[in-house]
Amino acid sequence: MSFTLWRHARIATMAPGRPWGWIDDGALLVQGHSLFWVGPQGELPAGLQPDTEHDLGGALVTPGLIDAHTHLVYGGDRAAEFELRLQGVSYEAIAKAGGGIRATVAATRAASDEGLFAGAAARARTLMAEGVTTIEIKSGYGLTEAHEARCLAVARRLGHELPLSVRTTSLAAHALPPEYEGRADDYIADASAWLAGQHAQGLVDAVDVFCDTIGFTPAQTERIFLAAKRLGLPVKLHAEQLSDQGGAALAARHGALSCDHLEHLSAAGIAAMRSAGTVAVLLPGAYYFLRETKLPPVAALREAGVPMAIATDHNPGSSPCLSLLLMLNMACTLFRLTPEEAWRGVTAHAARALGLHDRGMLAAGQRADFVVWDAEHPREIAYRFGHNPCRRVVRGGVQRMQS
Ligand code: NIG
Ligand code: FE
Repeated sequence: MSFTLWRHARIATMAPGRPWGWIDDGALLVQGHSLFWVGPQGELPAGLQPDTEHDLGGALVTPGLIDAHTHLVYGGDRAAEFELRLQGVSYEAIAKAGGGIRATVAATRAASDEGLFAGAAARARTLMAEGVTTIEIKSGYGLTEAHEARCLAVARRLGHELPLSVRTTSLAAHALPPEYEGRADDYIADASAWLAGQHAQGLVDAVDVFCDTIGFTPAQTERIFLAAKRLGLPVKLHAEQLSDQGGAALAARHGALSCDHLEHLSAAGIAAMRSAGTVAVLLPGAYYFLRETKLPPVAALREAGVPMAIATDHNPGSSPCLSLLLMLNMACTLFRLTPEEAWRGVTAHAARALGLHDRGMLAAGQRADFVVWDAEHPREIAYRFGHNPCRRVVRGGVQRMQS
């Protein structure tokens, strides 16, 4: 098989062991979809004749970015709700009055398949223009068996039709649909039963629940988790976003890949996540947009050695954000992550949050997903905001055209 050499690069490999996994004058040798070799230029394996060569002129290269938490498939928008919140009505009050997630559910059910696909594809392209090569997409705005399957199918189709890797997550337990008012346990029983069909159709890679006062209880969450585990599907959780429900500890007991949001995470939750190896996915966009004041316990997570990922949480209600680069900056300014922690959060740790072991860092055997930037060092990219220095994206060894 032929080799492509990308040489004369400053590479932040994100491999463990040294800061940024840094290589000053580096090269990447790509074979097919994978990296065959990554290292200092002077140590290139002798005797290998690359078929194609690209001189990067000293440009910065990082792994392709991974957005490990999005709700990309939905109809409508919630700009009117934004205005209401600016007048002082809370996110919870809007949800309890039947707006919020339920408003998006109505708009999603009313949308055509093509409309849903076109909206999500446009959003995906915006994320991709900043170097995103892998994305997680949750359902959760359909809330019937057919509509949940339809949203997951749209997410799968994005992965087939765009140069983007998509991981799908079933989040039927996102909100109680109006048809089930007062019958949350019945809804959980039905939503648990839908998983088998989604799994049989190859529509689902993981299962999530929104465990909170305006979502579902820990007991209901556990019923969904047990149904997922019967099918061998990994679980994750929207945990401790608006209140401490003990959701993180419950998810960790079920070996969750990640717990996400976590502003109200307790010390017990952190200890449970550490023991289980669960990733903390922090979502500065939702924190900012809901004007939260309680910060996730970043210092304690760092102290415990819980890996932290950063994601957009793109959704129409709490984080209508389409910039993972902006999240890098906000993770530093709002949450006090170091630029390197934030970068690991959108690369190596984001891969781990999705249970993916073949990406997130640049090393032999990993997928050849990388980005060439107009920057000297990745810390510059965390420092600026509203700026996109992405110049080239290579995904699975193939250079993607930037629009
Ligand atoms: O991750 N927390 C629950 N779900 C989304 C918000 C969904 C919405 O408001 O539409 C979140 O923030
Ligand atoms: Fe979310």
